[in-house]
Amino acid sequence: METVGTIGAGTIGTGVAQSLATAGHKVVLVDVSEEKLDGSLREMRRGLRTLKLLGATADALDPTEVLGRIEPTLELSRVADASFVIENATENWDVKEAIYRELRTICGPETTFGVNTSAIPITKVGSLMERPDNVIGMHFMNPVPMKPMVEIIRGHHTSERTIERARDLVAGMGKLSIVVNDSPGFVTNRVMMLMVNEAIFLLHEGVAATAEDVDRLFKACFGHKMGPLETADLIGLDTVLYSIEVLYENLNDAKYRPCPLLRKMVSADLLGRKSGEGFYKYDQAAA
Ligand SMILES: NC(=O)c1ccc[n+]([C@@H]2O[C@H](COP(=O)([O-])OP(=O)(O)OC[C@H]3O[C@@H](n4cnc5c(N)ncnc54)[C@H](O)[C@@H]3O)[C@@H](O)[C@H]2O)c1
Repeated sequence: METVGTIGAGTIGTGVAQSLATAGHKVVLVDVSEEKLDGSLREMRRGLRTLKLLGATADALDPTEVLGRIEPTLELSRVADASFVIENATENWDVKEAIYRELRTICGPETTFGVNTSAIPITKVGSLMERPDNVIGMHFMNPVPMKPMVEIIRGHHTSERTIERARDLVAGMGKLSIVVNDSPGFVTNRVMMLMVNEAIFLLHEGVAATAEDVDRLFKACFGHKMGPLETADLIGLDTVLYSIEVLYENLNDAKYRPCPLLRKMVSADLLGRKSGEGFYKYDQAAA
């Protein structure tokens, strides 16, 4: 078992921290917001209780024991002793760049860095570090504790040893992984974000009358478990917007232009499940 630094205690960082701690690792969970850290721990306790109720009886799933392995902190320097760091901060280049520049001075040369991003090129992050061969993309799926697969992204400099390290960590969390080469959005989100954004255009243009109509078509016609607008709410509309902006910026292709309705909803703080309302309304106490 190792000490894993987990940066960002939002939607995805919470799931990553929970899954790492469930696998027996010690986790240093860093965020810039005390409120986010508190919310993240609450969310994990709720998630672990639900898993226990669903019949996961292993001792490792005792919520108090699992949460006891997590150290929440506002100090990035607390990850200094971690052998692996998984960064899940906001999908914004300036935010991520500042974090990696700091990590470069905090962590030892052997530390492995897993970049959890929806679309930002891994090679660009690697170029910020002294040892870009130790940097790899680890695209976890939401909700992390329930999803069996992680998309692993090989940056231009990523070494085979780093790929092995990342795959081993993921396997220890009970998940499979598929390795792909670096490109904005990788395989999953280059398709998914485009589809979600286009579905928002269909609502924006009035082609579909309601979000529910769009989602029901995808579920009933194609057997999808969730429609694209339900998926957008689950991901977080801000993360969808930032991701499609990154794709637009990096691929210089107009097909990735964000839908004005998406921008408007993010400005109005209609972010989906995490804010209580997006294309649908959510009971936050029950969420
Ligand atoms: N939401 C998803 O479904 C999903 C899936 C896979 C990957 N991702 C990626 O994971 C990352 C996080 O996404 P999210 O949906 O969890 O976003 P989020 O907005 O829910 O959480 C981001 C967290 O990062 C924190 N943060 C911001 N600046 C920080 C800093 N300097 N140091 C430490 N913490 C900082 C914020 O306070 C917030 O708690 C993004 O890069 C996103 O693209 C998201």
